[in-house]
Formats: sequence, structure tokens, C-alpha cells
Amino acid sequence: MAAYDVETVVSVHHWSDRLFSFRTTRSPGIRFESGQFLMLGLEVDGKPLMRAYSVASANYESHLEFLSIKVPNGPLTSRLQLLRPGEQVLIGHKPVGTLMVDGLLPGKSIYLFSTGTGLAPFLSIVRDPRVYERFESVVLVHCVREIQELAYKNLLQGTLYEHELVGPCARERLIYVPTVTRQPYETTGRITELLESGRLSLLTNLPELDGRTDRVMLCGSIAMTKDLGQLLEHRGLALAKAGHGGHYLVERAFVEQ
Ligand code: A2P
Repeated sequence: MAAYDVETVVSVHHWSDRLFSFRTTRSPGIRFESGQFLMLGLEVDGKPLMRAYSVASANYESHLEFLSIKVPNGPLTSRLQLLRPGEQVLIGHKPVGTLMVDGLLPGKSIYLFSTGTGLAPFLSIVRDPRVYERFESVVLVHCVREIQELAYKNLLQGTLYEHELVGPCARERLIYVPTVTRQPYETTGRITELLESGRLSLLTNLPELDGRTDRVMLCGSIAMTKDLGQLLEHRGLALAKAGHGGHYLVERAFVEQ
């Protein structure tokens, strides 16, 4: 069996000059769990150029969707951002990554903290009925520099609530908090600031985040996952290691080139 499937781009959406998403066909052999990554790339000079991309679509959907940054001279993203419908990409069969709800101990609320393209795995998770079976409240915080980068805001503020499978649960129990750091917006400030100041609790109408009841997933830049990880440790949350349930899980938003 070939290591990669050839898939066709169905649509492309440019959110800003730094961020775009695209949808592809999905071969039946491609399986993954919500929150996982797949190897994705292009053939360059006769060889596959691949990077780990988290899947933004739900694991039961018939297409695949990915959210990507655009790095001007990045070997892969500078090419991917030129993709048009009908063109082809390579996608690996083997899912990777640790951001899976089952890796966490039971809890009351789950907080999904993301910056930039770190939102992608959480788009898959909030469309997975299992997250609502396991947690009473699902809080998704997306922190970006500029308003335009609040990708999928319309989905998270509206269309998801009409979703056939998870709409009713999402309407009652998903709390989406978009925050912007370099422009005026209704909510501004980094996730670290929202947590430390107590503003997150006011925005969500939930008690302050607490290791005894709450679970967390982090996905974003190295700096963000490091700083937030420290903050969570201070609040009594322990990192979940492979095979051992913990209070929080960390994944970098991998693609940086
Ligand atoms: P800021 O604008 O204050 O740097 P980027 O596009 O560079 O990946 O950043 C995405 C978002 O993550 C930005 O809003 C940025 O805020 C925020 N951010 C960057 N570093 C950290 C950090 N160490 N902790 C929390 N948020 C961060």
C-alpha cells in the first residue's frame, strides 16, 4: 500500500494574508480520531515534501479540511497557499498526535486553548459527540493577533448550533471565546492574561479553572504552550503522558514553514 494517498482539493479559503484553509477529498483508508494530525504535502522535485497537519474536519465527514499559515519562503506553505480547486495533494494514512479526549481523566469542564492555527484540532473535537458525553462544558478559546484571523468564527458562533449531530449539545454546552491581541475587539488579551486576571471566568460564567474539576488541551506556538503549561501546573493540573490519563494535554501547531 502506498504511504500517501493522492487527494483532490475541493475548495480553498483565505482568511488573511497569514492564514488559509482548504478542503480535500478523503479516501476511505484515511482514518483518524478527532484532534489528530495527518502527514500532508506535495510532490516537489519528484519527492514528497510532507508536514504534520491537524485535521480541522470531523472524523465522520466525507472530506478532509486543514488550516494553515502562509510562510513567505516556507518550503511547503509557500506552495500550498497557491493551491486551487482540482489540484492534488498527498495525504498520509497514519494519524499522529496526542490531543485526544480519551487521554484526559474525567472532569467537569474541558478548556480547549488555541492560538493561530492551533485552532484546527479543536474544530474537529467540538464536532465530536464524545466530548459532550465526557464533559458538562466545553470552552474553546481562540487567541489571534488580528480579527481577520478568527477563522471559523461564523461556524463557532452560529452554524455549529444547527449541526445535525452535535448542534443541540453545542448550543447548550459549548462556550466559544475569541480574543484578539493587536487590534481593538470585544475581548482582547492573551489566554494567559484572561486566566490570570479572572476575566475568563467572567466571560464563560464558570468558576475559576481548577485542577480538581477541569481538564485542558493546549495547541499553539511553543511560547504559548510553555507559558500556559506553567500556569496550569500552578493551578494543580498535571500533564497527561502517553497511556496515563492526566489533567492537561499539549500539542504544538506543527507547521511553521
Ligand atoms: P501577541 O500578539 O501578544 O504576541 P502568533 O500569530 O505569533 O502565533 O500568535 C498568535 C497569538 O498568540 C497572538 O495573539 C499572540 O499574542 C499570542 N501569544 C504569543 N505568545 C504567547 C504566549 N507566550 N502566551 C500566550 N499567548 C501568546
